[in-house]
This record gives sequence, structure tokens and C-alpha cells, in this order.
Amino acid sequence: MKAVGLTRYLPITDSESLRDVELPKPEPGDRDLLVRVEAISVNPVDTKIRRSKGPDHQEALPQVLGWDAAGVVEAVGSKVTLFQPGIEVYYAGSITRPGTNSEYHLVDERIVAKKPRSFDMAYAAALPLTAITAYEAFCDRMGIVFESDSVGKTVLIIGGAGGVGSIATQIAKIANLRVIATASRPESQSWCRKMGADEVLDHTKSIPDQLQRLNCSTVDYIFNTSTTEQHWPAMCEVIKPQGRICCIVDTTKAVDLNALKRKSVTFAWEFMFTRPMYQTDDIVEQHKLLTQVARWVDAGMIQSALTETLSPINAANLRAAHAKLESGRMIGKLVLTGWPS
Ligand SMILES: NC(=O)c1ccc[n+]([C@@H]2O[C@H](COP(=O)([O-])OP(=O)(O)OC[C@H]3O[C@@H](n4cnc5c(N)ncnc54)[C@H](OP(=O)(O)O)[C@@H]3O)[C@@H](O)[C@H]2O)c1
Repeated sequence: MKAVGLTRYLPITDSESLRDVELPKPEPGDRDLLVRVEAISVNPVDTKIRRSKGPDHQEALPQVLGWDAAGVVEAVGSKVTLFQPGIEVYYAGSITRPGTNSEYHLVDERIVAKKPRSFDMAYAAALPLTAITAYEAFCDRMGIVFESDSVGKTVLIIGGAGGVGSIATQIAKIANLRVIATASRPESQSWCRKMGADEVLDHTKSIPDQLQRLNCSTVDYIFNTSTTEQHWPAMCEVIKPQGRICCIVDTTKAVDLNALKRKSVTFAWEFMFTRPMYQTDDIVEQHKLLTQVARWVDAGMIQSALTETLSPINAANLRAAHAKLESGRMIGKLVLTGWPS
């Protein structure tokens, strides 16, 4: 089968950083689906892993990156109960297994859902990794109950125009939250409003000062999709007593957790690969939450964050996609569709 892989961890400007390769078609294990991949999306985790081991490390076999996919179930393992061949699915896979940048891909059925009926493969591939992240952040980490009691409460979403921020804003609106998002450019600010943000601040300026000007000096929840340590002092200042903060990006230097003690603030990490990585008892929650997200899509409650599609799925287009993400200026999601004939 066709795939895009790496054997060395190189800068994206190097034409060897991602290569077109031929690999054997994999065989499904007990709980696996073998999926014929039709579209993939690119996430910052792909670029981080592509750089992770440095240029001197050499892999014996090509490593396949990429975790978001939409496609069709081709075959199922002997213990699969949720899907049959022919079903259209979408999912974000597991970081501990080969990625989706291949024509055929194995994935545990418990982290897969039926593709939203109203989205084509490209729109569907743009959704899962970021939707799992935002859903788990709001529901599992910050304890927000959707479609219920959050009226009058406010969430600050730092990095509102990126892949995660785009879906987080929409999920927060489903939870009836007032959304204050951040973006630094006119085009990313207007994208935040299109995704449903009630207010947009500029994260290159003082967040506390801008909140004061909105007569909203503190917020109930903060979801930070950007650098944790850069925004830490502002988050500590503007979070309400007994509020909740969820971050998704590793700190590169220590942050002062004591700064949250007087306010009894809850701090939580979200890592969307935790359930598949540790095979947690509740791993099937990812199947359920992606099914719920698909229902919201089909009910017209979630719009696509897709802003760019490249075709076909090959090394040259994937290198272009990685380079775009590494700029840190992504608005919405970038997807690749179809395999070269
Ligand atoms: N823990 C997890 O499970 C998990 C899951 C998904 C993603 N992540 C991580 O979360 C981060 C965001 O992912 P993503 O897919 O949303 O990335 P993305 O789409 O590449 O994010 C791009 C956005 O980041 C904004 N941004 C750039 N610098 C910023 C800053 N200093 N402060 C606030 N916002 C800033 C930009 O807004 P402007 O252009 O307007 O400045 C841009 O719209 C990545 O580091 C990714 O690896 C973690």
C-alpha cells in the first residue's frame, strides 16, 4: 500500500523529511478495524513527532505519522462488535500505533465513530483529534455539562482560531457558555467570531486589561490551547475563585501552581491520546463522544473548521502541510484527500 513515512527526523525544508513509501497492508487484530483511508488532517503533534528524535537518529523501517482520518471500514477483527465492512468512519487513532498517513490503517474500534452523514470525507477528517481534545477538556477535565446549566458562565479560550480553538468555541456554545476567544490578527479574529465567539481579545496584549474593558474581570473557565507558561500569570489573575483551568501544551519551564491555591482553582491537563495510550477502562468514551459530535454536526450545531484541502496524499503535499502548521499561524484545519493513482 502507499504511505508517507520517515526514517530520519529532519526539518521540513529537507525533502527527505517525509517520503513516499510502499508498505505491506496490515492485518487487523481482535478489536481492530482495517480502514481504507480517504482523507487525513494534519495536527501540530505530527510535526512535533517528526522533529522529536533529532536528525542523527535513523529508523530501520519507515515510521508513519498522522492521526486524524476519515475512510471506509475494509475488514474487521474477530472481536469487533461496533462496525462492519463498508461503514464510513472518522477517528484520531493512537499515538502508540502507526499513523493514518497510509492507504490502509488499523484502529481500535472503541475510539472510532460513524462519520457525520452531512460531512464529506475531507470535512470529517478535519474534526476528530481536535473535537476529542475540546470535548474531553470541557466535559472530563473541567466538569462542564453540555446542553444544560452553564448559562451565565464564561470561558476564555486562548488561541481561538487554531484547530483546537475552532471546535472548542463551538462546543462551548453548545454548553451555553459565553465564549471569549483570543486571536492576534484581523483574519484570525474574524474567524473566531465565525466559529461563534461572543468576544475576541488579542493574546499579544494584556488579557486582564482587555477583560476589564469588557466589564468581565474574571472568568469561570479557561481553556488554553497555546503555550502554558506564556499565559500562566494572566490565567492565574483572571480565573474566578473556584474556577477551572485546562491546558493542553507541555510547559517548557516550571509554572507556579501555588498561585492557584488561594482561589481553590482546579487545574487539569488534557491529553487526547491518554485513553488509547493506556487502554483505560473507559476507552470506549471516545467512540461515544465522536458519535455525539457527529450528531451535533448532522443537527447543524457544528460547522466545519476546514480552511484548506490539498490533494493527493503524498510526501510533497504533506511537507507543505507540516510547514504551514509549523508557522504557528494556522486558521482552522488543513486536510489532504485521495491517493495518487
Ligand atoms: N494535549 C492534547 O491532547 C492536544 C491536542 C491537540 C493539540 N494540542 C496542542 O495544542 C496546540 C494547539 O493545537 P492546534 O491544532 O489548535 O494548533 P494550530 O491550529 O496550529 O494553532 C494555530 C493558532 O495558534 C494561535 N497562536 C499562536 N501563537 C499564540 C500565542 N502565543 N498565544 C495564543 N495563541 C497563539 C494562532 O493565532 P493568531 O494567528 O491569531 O496569533 C493560530 O490561529 C499545539 O501545540 C498542539 O500540539 C494538544
